Amino acid sequence: MVQKLTSNFREAVSIETVEMCHPGKDEICVKNKFVGVNATDVNMTKGRYSASKTPFGIGFEGCGEIVEVGENVKFLQVGQNVVYIDARCNAYAEYVCLPALGVIPVPKAIPDYLVLLVSGLTAAIGLDKGNRIAAGETVLITAAAGGTGHIAVQYAKAAECHVIGTCSSEEKEKILKGLGCDRAINYKKEDLGEVLAKEYPKGVNAIWETIGGKVFEDCVKNLAIRGRLLIVGSISGYKTESKELTTQLDLSELPGQLLFKSATIQGFLLTHYADCFSSYYNYLKEHLEGGKLKALYDNGEKTAGEEFFDLEGVIKGVEHLHSGKSIGKVIVRMS
Ligand SMILES: NC(=O)c1ccc[n+]([C@@H]2O[C@H](COP(=O)([O-])OP(=O)(O)OC[C@H]3O[C@@H](n4cnc5c(N)ncnc54)[C@H](OP(=O)(O)O)[C@@H]3O)[C@@H](O)[C@H]2O)c1
Repeated sequence: MVQKLTSNFREAVSIETVEMCHPGKDEICVKNKFVGVNATDVNMTKGRYSASKTPFGIGFEGCGEIVEVGENVKFLQVGQNVVYIDARCNAYAEYVCLPALGVIPVPKAIPDYLVLLVSGLTAAIGLDKGNRIAAGETVLITAAAGGTGHIAVQYAKAAECHVIGTCSSEEKEKILKGLGCDRAINYKKEDLGEVLAKEYPKGVNAIWETIGGKVFEDCVKNLAIRGRLLIVGSISGYKTESKELTTQLDLSELPGQLLFKSATIQGFLLTHYADCFSSYYNYLKEHLEGGKLKALYDNGEKTAGEEFFDLEGVIKGVEHLHSGKSIGKVIVRMS
């Protein structure tokens, strides 16, 4: 439970023992096997979403086994495996009760299917409906080796785009190349703005922006004519204690930057596209099962020295994601 409004996740939350939940008539109860960690968890603890009166639950997604169904639920059964996005944000728990409509049955409760959920859907729906990518275009993915980014890279490649991806280490560069990324920019070694201006003088058609600050500024300046920048996140500001996410960009320049290029900046929040979830999830699942899409996940074993396990593991997982060292989707195994 979130007890204190701060972006310091460890300080914000407490692990509570509560009475076992039981589903309402149209609900199911899931025993979590894995939960997915998201960058925005710290926005939630800071109270940047609507919930700001403590205490409140936290955790957007999980996968596990149905252990109880409500009396009206006829299309799901006890013992079935599902993945789910919890709009009520109580996923960081051993058991969670959820509306039955909206959960997605999967053959096994394994991390791969969880990678496709918040991260996979954000990548696919964002690039299609927000960035409106098309074959032959140049697409820039920021935090490209992360949970959301690595699916975005593959989705844009499958759409026959030229893909540029940013990252912070040589190991991540190699991973990006392995995923088919045409140009990996390690921003610890190269300046993003300079590389874009030099190597892409006509600009970038679609930009998947998740960082904010100077990266946002470099991206705006390097949009192509009719370029589309999608604000998917602003992670560089998440760990601050400011209530608002801000930019240092001199907004007085913005009308000129957009007008003279017929360029667009648009926001994107996955929850506003719930009507598309099942069709995009099925697409991603088919590609995963057909070997055309790789789901990379990070359970801490290789990158943090220990597997993230149980609710204490959630705290470690959130801190790991914000350390910049995680590769792929951060996942926590529940007992
Ligand atoms: N709008 C939506 O509906 C939606 C849904 C899901 C995710 N998102 C956004 O997508 C982005 C990625 O989220 P995710 O959960 O998939 O996380 P993630 O990419 O798995 O992990 C975060 C990565 O961001 C990069 N990063 C760059 N600057 C950073 C900084 N100042 N502090 C920490 N990390 C920094 C790091 O990789 P490198 O530095 O190596 O690149 C880090 O590994 C976030 O901005 C998140 O809010 C948005």
